[in-house]
Amino acid sequence: MKKLLVILSFSCVVISCGSNDSNPAKEDRTEEAKEVAKEPDAKGPDYQKGLELVAKSDCFTCHKVKETATGPAYEAVAAKYAPATDEVIEKLANKVIAGGAGAWGTVPMLPHPQLSKDDAKAMVKYIMALKK
Ligand code: HEC
Repeated sequence: MKKLLVILSFSCVVISCGSNDSNPAKEDRTEEAKEVAKEPDAKGPDYQKGLELVAKSDCFTCHKVKETATGPAYEAVAAKYAPATDEVIEKLANKVIAGGAGAWGTVPMLPHPQLSKDDAKAMVKYIMALKK
């Protein structure tokens, strides 16, 4: 009898774990940060890497995902330059590294000379993937 109880409770644990895993989409999606962090798998490893790099760097001091701040909203950047061809990604990655003004207004973006080209490209891919 004891054995049966052990087996029963063990299978309960297994079952409840299983159902947690299969249902990650049900959580609250309104919070922007969560929403952004939630979809990396669907958008590929570049997106995840880019998001982490952007979060680690100073980008979010001037940029927000949905609203204009010192810099343009990332969704607006994604919409302006879509579709995200290799040329577009190259051009924007160079701009992130070099900084500068003129595309959105007179306020300049600070240069980021410490970024490698690959990292800057991953960041831009993350931004371009925010297009609705
Ligand atoms: C000091 C504030 C500031 C910081 C920090 C900053 N940006 Fe910007 N960013 C801007 C401004 C202002 C613009 C608009 C520039 C323009 O009008 O050409 C901009 C524009 C952009 C653009 C669009 C460029 C274009 O030519 O349209 C991208 C992409 C971008 N930023 C990504 C980033 C990334 C990635 C980071 C972090 C590594 C970052 N920014 C950090 C202020 C900033």
